[in-house]
Amino acid sequence: MKPVLSLKHISKSFSGVQALKDISVDFYPGEVHAIMGENGAGKSTLMKVLFGIYKRDSGEIIYKDEPVQFKHAADALEQGIAMVQQELSTIPDRSVAENIFLGREPMIKGLHFVDKKKMHADVREVFKNMGVENIEPHRKMRELDIAQMQLVDIAKASAYHSDVLILDEATSSLTGPEVERLFRLIREFKESGTAILYITHKMDEVFEISDRVTVLRDGELIKTADTKEMTENSLITMMVGREIKDVYPKSEYHPGEVVLEIRNFTRPGKNDNNSFSVRAGEVLGMAGLVGAGRTEMVESLFGLRNDYKGEVYIKGRKAVIKRPSDGIANGIALITEDRKQTGLNLLGNVKDNISMIALKNLCRAGFILKRQERKVVEEQIEALRIKTPSAGQIVSFLSGGNQQKVVIAKWLLLNSDIIIMDEPTRGVDVGAKREIYLLVNELKAQGKAIIMISSELPELMGMCDRQLVMYKGKITGILEKDDITQENIMAKAVGAEEV
Ligand SMILES: Nc1ncnc2c1ncn2[C@@H]1O[C@H](COP(=O)(O)OP(=O)(O)OP(=O)(O)O)[C@@H](O)[C@H]1O
Ligand SMILES: [Mg+2]
Repeated sequence: MKPVLSLKHISKSFSGVQALKDISVDFYPGEVHAIMGENGAGKSTLMKVLFGIYKRDSGEIIYKDEPVQFKHAADALEQGIAMVQQELSTIPDRSVAENIFLGREPMIKGLHFVDKKKMHADVREVFKNMGVENIEPHRKMRELDIAQMQLVDIAKASAYHSDVLILDEATSSLTGPEVERLFRLIREFKESGTAILYITHKMDEVFEISDRVTVLRDGELIKTADTKEMTENSLITMMVGREIKDVYPKSEYHPGEVVLEIRNFTRPGKNDNNSFSVRAGEVLGMAGLVGAGRTEMVESLFGLRNDYKGEVYIKGRKAVIKRPSDGIANGIALITEDRKQTGLNLLGNVKDNISMIALKNLCRAGFILKRQERKVVEEQIEALRIKTPSAGQIVSFLSGGNQQKVVIAKWLLLNSDIIIMDEPTRGVDVGAKREIYLLVNELKAQGKAIIMISSELPELMGMCDRQLVMYKGKITGILEKDDITQENIMAKAVGAEEV
């Protein structure tokens, strides 16, 4: 069979960083081709070069037997290549339907009006194919959570029925059932001859959905092979250049006093009468499907929302938390899932982002202790192995996973007693994930109380001492260590009665 798309000797550098070195790879109709590699390996850059967002320095792209050079994304789309980008690209103030049909809205015949009725019906159809139930076409994008935004992004790209579909970490916030539904859709596309380029850091997905896999490391192509020929270990070794034994490091569990307790947490129509507590030296997991209400609950605890009823106790004392500064003052850190909206100042540099919240502790008599600041920032960059040319680099130029590490670094500097992590390893590669897990265990050993929300069940099972599960805004169970199994979690996450 002939490839539909061939990349030949593609190279690309950014001032000082060679992101891609002489990459050649073919993509065939009806194949799912996984592209893997560490954070900063060059995956997104390669896709952006292909999609016309970046201009390549050298090399050739052959598409349907012709050399091509897409000038911009719209050009690529028109020629039958669609892409879900790693960083969400939807417009917050427009509706879900407007985002999906942006630039090609159905018009009312003979009039210059968008046919909203048709547009909404079409969106419902697209969602139905994807098995998405809980997103209304008229909702504003900004009202959705990040997983729902991701689903809209996927709907948007898949509505083109393109010949090549690129998914750059499109499932990073999705949980099991949503990923399964997406996979069903991918299989349909495959049947109809679409070539799918699939980037993910989730190993299980690669083995479930891909036919072939290409591994990049430091901008170079290490290998392209049939997925069948690979094992998880061989893939990891190729990606990071060394062996990693156990991704989830062992840890001891010696819980101390209750540090945080929530009683009867309720948000009208959203969260219902939830009570739970976290102890010092413990990692409490939070599992649930997209829209289960986990993120909203911890955002409220931290003070990002104050439309809730219920009581919060910190070390036995009742706390009033109405805004984030209250959360911080009460010793809470919230490492958020949404880098763009709440986690980072993308136009700021790495140093300023890391020291932003802890700056108060780095001041004397109103002056920032510059040398001290630089030192602690360098320590964080080192500890988390943030890949950046320097602390002065603008954050938006870092790869997605490295941006996530900057978010973690900035909150760790605060040295809070209660650390809430909402998808801490979203978009982070295996090697770096392990670094973060080691760090979590270390914080636990220091007696921190940690809450971890994750869409990855293996991560929750590998890291958590107790497991809270939510369904439609309500806690459906809190599992003790020995009861934490995939079956038990899933049963409670879909609201099934006692298992
Ligand atoms: N616009 C840019 N300006 C400067 N450097 C960039 C730019 N875009 C990417 N880079 C650099 O190019 C390299 C490759 O980045 P890329 O985003 O392709 O990595 P990635 O493999 O997608 O990583 P991740 O898994 O974290 O998403 C990194 O070193 C990154 O910092
Ligand atoms: Mg990327």
